[in-house]
Amino acid sequence: MCGITGYLGDGDSVELIAQGLKNLEYRGYDSAGVAVVDDDVNVYKQEGTIDGITLPDSEPTAYGIGHTRWSTHGPPSDRNAHPHTDCTGDIAVVHNGIISNYHELKADLDGHIFESDTDTEVIPHLIEEELADGVDLLPAVQRVLDRLEGSFAIGVGQAGSERLIGARQDSPLVVGHGEDGTFLASDVTAFIEQTKFVSYLEDGDVVDVGVDGATVYNDGEVVDREPQEIKWDAEDTSKAGHDHYMHKEIHEQPHALRQTLSGRVDETAGKVDLELDLGDELLEGIDRVHIVACGTSYHAGLYAKRLFETYSGLSVEVSRASEYRVHDGHDPENTLAVAITQSGETADTLSAIRTAKSIGTPTLAVTNTVGSTVTREVDDTVYIRAGPEIGVAATKTFVSQVATLALVAVHAGRVRGTISASKAASFLQSVNQLPSAVQEVLNSEAVIERIAEKYADSESFFFIGKAYGHPVALESALKLKEISYEHAEGFPAGELKHGPLALVTEQTPVIALLTEGTEAAETMSNVKEVQSRGAPVIGLSSDSGKSEFCEELIEVPEMGEMEPVVANVALQLLAYHVADLKGRAIDKPRNLAKSVTVE
Ligand code: AGP
Ligand code: GLU
Repeated sequence: MCGITGYLGDGDSVELIAQGLKNLEYRGYDSAGVAVVDDDVNVYKQEGTIDGITLPDSEPTAYGIGHTRWSTHGPPSDRNAHPHTDCTGDIAVVHNGIISNYHELKADLDGHIFESDTDTEVIPHLIEEELADGVDLLPAVQRVLDRLEGSFAIGVGQAGSERLIGARQDSPLVVGHGEDGTFLASDVTAFIEQTKFVSYLEDGDVVDVGVDGATVYNDGEVVDREPQEIKWDAEDTSKAGHDHYMHKEIHEQPHALRQTLSGRVDETAGKVDLELDLGDELLEGIDRVHIVACGTSYHAGLYAKRLFETYSGLSVEVSRASEYRVHDGHDPENTLAVAITQSGETADTLSAIRTAKSIGTPTLAVTNTVGSTVTREVDDTVYIRAGPEIGVAATKTFVSQVATLALVAVHAGRVRGTISASKAASFLQSVNQLPSAVQEVLNSEAVIERIAEKYADSESFFFIGKAYGHPVALESALKLKEISYEHAEGFPAGELKHGPLALVTEQTPVIALLTEGTEAAETMSNVKEVQSRGAPVIGLSSDSGKSEFCEELIEVPEMGEMEPVVANVALQLLAYHVADLKGRAIDKPRNLAKSVTVE
């Protein structure tokens, strides 16, 4: 999910690739590496920053590929850093994304020596096999690509070949056309100082870069990916054209969700494959799940509670991790403790999970961070694969957490026999639509920005929702308060009249979740209550008819029980634009840290 860069030409390759990787640093990464390719391949790589790698001085005839890694398979370490090579050491590969069928592919690679835990490493070995059959590099890579499943962008170099091959499938890759050579990269920022002429590759494209430039193929045919001229400069690129990481990360959600779901969902069979080590026996034996988490992850836990109760027939308790450890009387028998933590380093959550372990409860972590502390402490881990999140306010990790937990709920339900294949299939169908539904919401950003402008100076913001709308109300209020520093609170819609209504005035907009999965008809009576106190109501719904009853309506696509989490994306944008209008430090709000490592 992080960065690829490559260069072939007359320029100083080592320098240009290193600069490209520096320019891609804003994407976040845990390890980095470069392969310098000439008559042989030399790899320089390690866990940590690019600056820590000692690269050779300029090598005039060489070319190469570079990588910044955000681990998905295997912890961050020197040996797992890219590039990866084949047994001969002549093929070097960098890869962003996930090869979801790497297990099966690896099983076919008898006799090959693997040096890492990554999914990526199957690629150089598969290419090696094709080359051994006498095939040239380009057709060899094309044949291998036909066997790969998942989402990926790759760069391949071969000793002595003077060729660089790139390919994309659901992960970005662009080609830069420089005066002295050709660049490959995850985005334009990598080489913007060198050239502004760029070809954007499409899914299924394979690019063959040689000394004469680049040729792009799709389905074996040459295709024209007309170079376009970039209109912005190096200074504009640090966040890929976004003003803030948070904005970039909100917009990355369709891609993040595709990664989350990649290779895990068999919609037709109503099945989920999460590669869980926790056996089916354990899932069959438990009758209870105890979720521990903090902040946004706690809200994902509340969403998951309903999903688990609906699809797995499990009773679920959700505790704020900081409260869990002081409780006693937890029943270790028949309970699975689930820690949700995007960073995997939150002290309160680690402490709760240690307490759970100490009383003999089996533990599962749901996290974004491979190799994080939580993964070393629990019995098993499911990764949400959202890619690095740099903004302090969690956005894409929330949505990917909910999507991952939906898969865990279906998996548990199928193992436990509490959900039929057809019911699972129809739910998985809507889970699979999350990326496009979220994209639809992102496309309506202008409407949300206008609403933000209208209400930014309000005294206070209240968010209400029932059922699946409740965690989203809590999460949306947290987002708004974190980054705008304005007072915001979320409530179960029905609770409003039991107290908070005293605070409602014409100065306090009420944001109401009126989507599917929120018992909207009942919330409508709460909408009436606040309107009769003069409060403007901003509704979220897939039913355009609701506009009649609200001052503003943000329409979202129809998504059943997943509709509220899609509506959450609209409210991330609302929070973002309110904070932006107020000139807040959106990516690093005051007093907050990305990862809270103290109790
Ligand atoms: C989210 O916007 C917050 N910054 C915060 O609530 C966060 O979700 C919480 O600290 C938990 O973090 P974790 O998921 O890394 O454990
Ligand atoms: N799945 C690969 C790995 O874990 C690539 C991760 C990335 O996109 O950086 O090494």
